[in-house]
Amino acid sequence: MSAEYPAMKLNGQTHIVVGGAGYIGSHVCKMIADHGGEPVTFDNFSSGHPHAVRWGPAIDVDLRNAQSLNEALSAYQDASSVIHLASSIEVGIGEKDPAGFYNNNVIGAFNLLEGMRKHGLDRFIFSSTCATYGETNKVPLTEDQNQNPFSVYGKTKLAIEHMIQSYHNAYGLKYITLRYFNASGADPSGEIGEEHDPETHLIPIAMQAAAGLRGKMKIFGTDYETPDGTCVRDYIHVNDIARAHILGLGKFDAGLTNLEVNIGTGNGYSNLEILKMVEEVTGLPLPYDATPRRPGDVTQLFADASKAKAELNFVPQYSDLEYIIRSAWNFHRSRWQL
Ligand SMILES: NC(=O)c1ccc[n+]([C@@H]2O[C@H](COP(=O)([O-])OP(=O)(O)OC[C@H]3O[C@@H](n4cnc5c(N)ncnc54)[C@H](O)[C@@H]3O)[C@@H](O)[C@H]2O)c1
Repeated sequence: MSAEYPAMKLNGQTHIVVGGAGYIGSHVCKMIADHGGEPVTFDNFSSGHPHAVRWGPAIDVDLRNAQSLNEALSAYQDASSVIHLASSIEVGIGEKDPAGFYNNNVIGAFNLLEGMRKHGLDRFIFSSTCATYGETNKVPLTEDQNQNPFSVYGKTKLAIEHMIQSYHNAYGLKYITLRYFNASGADPSGEIGEEHDPETHLIPIAMQAAAGLRGKMKIFGTDYETPDGTCVRDYIHVNDIARAHILGLGKFDAGLTNLEVNIGTGNGYSNLEILKMVEEVTGLPLPYDATPRRPGDVTQLFADASKAKAELNFVPQYSDLEYIIRSAWNFHRSRWQL
């Protein structure tokens, strides 16, 4: 697949990437550097990796510590934007530890927005999620759909969306809230990819199972009203997500002041379709058990991607399923030395 990036140039601009040591953040950093910009990673390395910070400096800072965050921001008050990807993301942990999630996600975002206000930084891109929509039977999901998240994770993200809107209304913050669907795949260089621990996402789990690094994987529910009975999700390549940020930065330059937008492909794949493609690409049999439905799983979630096209000129380039799985396998195979 071609590595055709938009013509946009960031011309030596500095962009603060909060969570730049993580899966998606490291791809955003690489793409900023590929466009001539300098990404500065702010991260506490709670789930991110020092080895994933390759395209600019890393500042070891925790969003929950307002004082050290302000010190870090004061060194970068000329930055062109702040891109905020840092978050607690594991849905199951959020249910058991809502205090930890609200503290890290909501208080962390509040400290960041306050720090930006203090330092005159007024362009903000926020990583939100399709999990803010919650239970819905209406697909594809449009942005104006009712947001009623059922997970603590989704609730913290929605609270942050509201906070951002309030900062826009009262203080003139310019923002783009990107509601990502399922991030997947890896940069074709094999340098960076998905390294969550523990891993909860379907594709890397399937690869671990195929590679014999874990036992049989579980497919939760085979009696959904979908063609093969398994849940359907919208998988978008991480470099397409990264591109959406670059396009967003260009829109700020063109005068955009506020936007909430889905970042998905508009296509859904079922769990079994993913497993089949993993088997095809890896050439390995994939052992799995079909188990009962998991509470909270929605039958199908996929984006209406038309607003992203209209507002950001965003059309996915890398999200063909086979390419997603090949790029992920390329990364994991070298990481696991297979
Ligand atoms: N992965 C997905 O499929 C997906 C889907 C929708 C939305 N998102 C959102 O995208 C963002 C990035 O997700 P990811 O998969 O790359 O996660 P990740 O865990 O790989 O990255 C998160 C990064 O944030 C850092 N971080 C966490 N808390 C911090 C704090 N208090 N201070 C400083 N740094 C902190 C972590 O160390 C890590 O580097 C998250 O906000 C997530 O909610 C992800």
